[in-house]
Amino acid sequence: AAAGLPPTSLDLRNTDTGEPLDLSMAQEEGRDTPGVRKFLQTGVDPYLEDKSCLKKGEVIYLEACSGCHGHVGEGKIGPGLNDDYWTYPKNETDQGLFETIFGGARAQMGPHYDLTLDEILKVMAWVRHLYKDDVKHAPWLTDAQKKNYRPFKVGEKFPEDAPGMCAADKT
Ligand code: HEM
Ligand code: CA
Repeated sequence: AAAGLPPTSLDLRNTDTGEPLDLSMAQEEGRDTPGVRKFLQTGVDPYLEDKSCLKKGEVIYLEACSGCHGHVGEGKIGPGLNDDYWTYPKNETDQGLFETIFGGARAQMGPHYDLTLDEILKVMAWVRHLYKDDVKHAPWLTDAQKKNYRPFKVGEKFPEDAPGMCAADKT
């Protein structure tokens, strides 16, 4: 494995072509965080419900994604990300969503080697948070998470200093 990449048994594939993805394309920074380590072991994004990560994911989303997908994922030149229809059904899984963001898909949806692996997990958490449709069509949530699910409301505020895996003292 390339320097600093945690071990993984995930078979990561390009969303369009099915070709294997090369994690060594990722930035050197943000490769070996507890979140990335966990994701590469399990295929599950541990940042999903962590408020300390959501706030950071929102900032990344507004910089890197909203221009094409809309401010709340409602869709623009790229498809809506906040609803229950997916061009690529694998985006209903954390692994599939990671593959699409890291490796890209078609047309203007290029790879995101500019983001660190850790930033991709944070932006995924925010994309999931933007979801507004029926919880029955949200298989990325655990049963416990489904019980607590509330559709995203525009204008919701988060504390800047929420405790969690992405808190300032843990970066
Ligand atoms: C497709 C996420 C940035 C344009 C997608 C899909 C996802 C996604 C999950 C697949 C949706 C589906 O299966 O229905 C993101 C995220 C971004 C990002 C999280 C930021 C990190 C961008 C940017 C552009 C863009 C900057 C424009 C330059 C598109 C287009 C598609 C797409 C045109 C359709 C591609 C296809 O159907 O193969 N994006 N995207 N995206 N995105 Fe993005
Ligand atoms: Ca959609």
